[in-house]
Amino acid sequence: MNAARVDEVVGEFVNLKKRGVNLLGLCPFHNEKTPSFTVSPAKGIYKCFGCGKAGNSVNFIMDHESLSYPEALRYLADKYNIEIEETVLAKEEIEQKTERDSLYILMSAAQKYYSERLHEDEEGKTIALTYLKERALTPKTIEGFQLGWSSLGRDDFSQWAIKNGYNREYLVKTGMSFETEQGSLFDRFRERIMFPIHNIAGKIVGFGGRILRSNAKEAKYINSPETDIYNKSKILYGLFQARKAIRQRDEALLVEGYMDVLALHQAGIEHAVASSGTSLTDDQLRLVKRFTDNITFLFDGDAAGQKAALRAIDMALELELNVKMLLLPADHDPDSFVKAYDIEYVEQYFKDHSQNFIAFRIGLLPEDVLRDPIKKSEIVREMLNSVVLIKDIIKRNLYLREISKLLDFDEKVLNDELRRMAASKFKKDNKAPDLTLAEPQVISQEQAIRSQATAVNQEKQLLKVLLLYGSRMYTDDMTSAQFIYRETSGMEWENDHCRILFERYREATEQENNLADVNFLIHDQPEEMRRFVYDVITERYQLSPGWEKFLRRTVVSPDANYKEEVKSAIGYLKFTKISKIVEENQKGVALLETDEAIDELFMLQQVLLNMRKQLAVELGIG
Ligand code: UTP
Ligand code: MN
Repeated sequence: MNAARVDEVVGEFVNLKKRGVNLLGLCPFHNEKTPSFTVSPAKGIYKCFGCGKAGNSVNFIMDHESLSYPEALRYLADKYNIEIEETVLAKEEIEQKTERDSLYILMSAAQKYYSERLHEDEEGKTIALTYLKERALTPKTIEGFQLGWSSLGRDDFSQWAIKNGYNREYLVKTGMSFETEQGSLFDRFRERIMFPIHNIAGKIVGFGGRILRSNAKEAKYINSPETDIYNKSKILYGLFQARKAIRQRDEALLVEGYMDVLALHQAGIEHAVASSGTSLTDDQLRLVKRFTDNITFLFDGDAAGQKAALRAIDMALELELNVKMLLLPADHDPDSFVKAYDIEYVEQYFKDHSQNFIAFRIGLLPEDVLRDPIKKSEIVREMLNSVVLIKDIIKRNLYLREISKLLDFDEKVLNDELRRMAASKFKKDNKAPDLTLAEPQVISQEQAIRSQATAVNQEKQLLKVLLLYGSRMYTDDMTSAQFIYRETSGMEWENDHCRILFERYREATEQENNLADVNFLIHDQPEEMRRFVYDVITERYQLSPGWEKFLRRTVVSPDANYKEEVKSAIGYLKFTKISKIVEENQKGVALLETDEAIDELFMLQQVLLNMRKQLAVELGIG
């Protein structure tokens, strides 16, 4: 980290100009005309005020070059001539790794072979290239997606591969060849347009092969099987080519077919990807989430497409993706649509017709359903089943409002039902109930933001003092971190990010003897998390008016005594948590049936109230 100076590392990709103590340039992660990408050599971090990306040298390389954490370290080590000792691999691990490498090499050779057949062989040129031209694909697209052609012969490829020294075992393992009982090889792909499938590092892991003319006897597409290098549920077709556009647009467009991806990219809609040869999986959506939080589904309007869409919505919501749905005019698929209209029209259409999932579902319903109260309430329940998957309370409320508005349903009733569902879902998942769902009335968006902000801000404040002062001594024999752990043991966190980071930090300090620092904490975390940490330690939230107002006193200045900060962070957090329990107990009394139960709760309540009073005095907010 000391060698890989952030200004040097970033400077290799971004033209940076000096501006005060910082450097300034155009952000490489989004399109901007006025530079707002700052690099602070002193802090060792970059921060973009346009798109909010932030991180250190390693994060930058990971993001910019789409490398994993270890890959980025190797990259930097190489750049600065630092030797890194990697864990020595066991013998089987080396064998496994070399085998995987061999499979990659074979797939890459196959791609070159098939492309040559397409561009050099008479048969390829007259039959396949002509076909691709009929489908209006340009040489640039054919090139960019490395399309190819597999010839008619039953073992042309296998023979070529053996002749060129490729191991027959790997031919069979990759599924490129079948082996007969007599031991002869024949090709999986024959007489097909070849679509190489890349992983996000750009390595080819499999192929899809499209037959030229429809033929009832054979499948339109044949795909490579699952192999050691091709895990179908974790690969999205076109993601390698789409990843830059997905980042820039901060959105991914999910379509159904290979051909759709090609046509969209060719038209300039380069954030399109497809799940190849399988129905969409959870892992594929996680892959998308590495690049963006926003996903738009562009499914066919037919019944199968609709069913796929509903499944996809729930999966995406559960991963906290923001979901939009897009339907094309009847009789169109993305491929035909972009060919029928110019790009301005298409982009405008996409913009105008993207719907949230509530509006999309309602749009699918036949008229009479909405006039039948029983059917209508079934629909509402179905939609609430999706809404309950959303963890963000503000978003959840916005969707409730949408349902209430579009279906003319009372928001309070919806909210009650949602809470009931949440409770039983949590019971089923065996998780603690979500406190945000225990609020009795429909809370307005503003209230939601406010109540969320105060509790969460306090958790952030605590995290901040932990990160900044954790290693300093709080008393003679206790670090600030140890003090914080002791005071918060058993506490339930409102904010998942805070909880995760707090736990990570604690595990690290407990094991490594206080070696944890911010870089350690976030090195392998997703972008969102890193941004979160930088926001926390650069105290953007802390100076927000809400915070100050809530505390009814001046925000502690960053220069103040750190022990004071640690102490007050703990104090405020406890104060809010206790207040929350006190409130819940008040509401809970009505549900208790026996006198003993009421007495017990009352005793607990008095303890809590005393604690709260004490804290208020200490904090000067009594
Ligand atoms: P489509 O039939 O819509 O294919 O299937 P397409 O990509 O639009 O191709 P064209 O326009 O007919 O040339 C959608 C996707 O479903 C998978 C493929 O991934 C295909 O791209 N599929 C389809 C198969 O895996 N096998 C098949 O037999 C058919
Ligand atoms: Mn098609």
